[in-house]
Amino acid sequence: MKNSYPQFKSIQIRNVRHWQTGDLTELLIAGGKFVPELTGQAELVLDGQGLTALPGLIDAHVHLRDPGFEYREDIITGTRAAAHGGFTAIAPMPNTNPVADTVPIIRYMIDKAATAGFCRVLPIGAATKKQEGQELSEIGLMTEAGAVAFSDDGVPIASAGMMRKAMEYAAFFDRVIISHCEDPELAKDGVCNEGIVSTEMGLKGIPSIAEDIMIDRETRIAEYLGCHVHIAHVSTAGGVECVRAAKARGVKVTAETCPHYFTLTEEAIRGFNTLAKVNPPLRTESDRLAIIAGLQDGTLDIIATDHAPHHTDEKDCEFSLANNGLIGLETCFPLVYTRLVEPGHLSLADAVSKLTANPARLLKQPKPGLEVGLAADLTLVDLEETVTYDAASSLSKARNTPFQGFELRGFPQLTIMAGNITWDSGRLTK
Ligand code: DOR
Repeated sequence: MKNSYPQFKSIQIRNVRHWQTGDLTELLIAGGKFVPELTGQAELVLDGQGLTALPGLIDAHVHLRDPGFEYREDIITGTRAAAHGGFTAIAPMPNTNPVADTVPIIRYMIDKAATAGFCRVLPIGAATKKQEGQELSEIGLMTEAGAVAFSDDGVPIASAGMMRKAMEYAAFFDRVIISHCEDPELAKDGVCNEGIVSTEMGLKGIPSIAEDIMIDRETRIAEYLGCHVHIAHVSTAGGVECVRAAKARGVKVTAETCPHYFTLTEEAIRGFNTLAKVNPPLRTESDRLAIIAGLQDGTLDIIATDHAPHHTDEKDCEFSLANNGLIGLETCFPLVYTRLVEPGHLSLADAVSKLTANPARLLKQPKPGLEVGLAADLTLVDLEETVTYDAASSLSKARNTPFQGFELRGFPQLTIMAGNITWDSGRLTK
C-alpha cells in the first residue's frame, strides 16, 4: 500500500494559528518547501480556521517490527499511524528479526518507507551484533547507509567496557548511542515496578535503582570520554536526578521520556491490566511528578513514544507472560497537549520543541519549522475539540493502548511531509 492521497503542486493554508507566535498566519507550499509567495492561485486552498500549525513531529523512539514481526506492525502501517499522529519522521529501534545490524536492513527500512510515502524512517542501528552485547556492529557502514543513531534498546548493554567501546566508536562517525538503562541483574524477571503495587499483586518487581544505576554509569562513561550519550525513556525520579546532575557537570547527555510516564502510574496495572505493562515499567506518583519537573527544567529534552505494537494474543494473557509495550504514535501529541500544556506544566512552544527541534538535533536532521525555505513538514492540530480516544481509530495493526476512553484534545487533522499530504481527516479538504 502506498500513499494515495491526492497531491498538489502548491498549497495555501489560510487562517491557521502559528504554534510559536499564536498569531493567525498563512502558509504557502510549493516544490515541497515553504515559500514566500506563489505564482498564481494555489492548486489547493485550505481554510485552517480553528487549527494550529506545528512543524512535523519527530519521534526518536519507535518499534516498527519490520522485518520479522509484521504480524504486529510493518513499515507501511507504522508510518501511516505516524502520519495520523502528526509525525513526519520516526526513528525505529533495531529489535527486528533479523536485528537491524547490517547495511541491507537499514536500506530496506528507508526504501520501504520512502516508497510508501507516509513518513520518513530514520533507522537506529544495533550498537552490537544481534544486540548480543558481545561485538560492535558495523556502525560506520550503517551510518553511511542512513542509520541516524545506535542502540541495543530493550537488551541493555550489560558490560560497561562494551558500552565504552560503543560510545567511542559511534562518536568517531558523529553518531550517538541511545541507552535503554536497566541493570539486567537488578531487573531480572521483573514484570512491573517494585513497590507496594507489585507486593500487593504478588508480582516480581523491577526496582527504580535498576534504571538509576545504569543512567549514572552511562553518564559517567560519556563524561570520561567526552562523548554524547542519549538516555532512552526515563521513568524514575532518580533517573531524572542523575541526568540533571550530569548536565550540571557539563556531561554531553540528552534524555527522553514518553507520554505514559507523565500520564500514568503503576496503579494502571491493577486488575492485571497487561495494556499498561511496559518496560521500563510505570512507576509511582512521585516519579511521575519528577518526570514532569524534568521536562519543565530541560533535564528531559525529548518526548518520544516508544510505540511498541503487539498482537492481541501477546497481551490477552497472564500478566507475567504478556509482552511489554504500548502503541503511542497517535495519542502522543494529544497527551502532551492535554496533560502537559493545558495544565500549564509546559508552554506549547516548549512541548513542541521536545517533539521537533530537540529530536531533530539528536538524529542529525535538518532544523524543523514553518519558515520559508524549510521542508514543508507540518501538522494541523485541533486544540479545542475534545475527543474520546478509541483505539479502533488507530491506523496501526495493533490496539495495545492503555489510553482507551481518555478525553483528549490536540488530534491532528492534516499532516504534510515535504509538501505531500500524508494524513487527512477530511475536515479541511471536504
Ligand atoms: O515496553 C517495551 N517494549 N520496552 C522495550 O524496551 C521494548 C519494547 C518492544 O520492543 O516491545
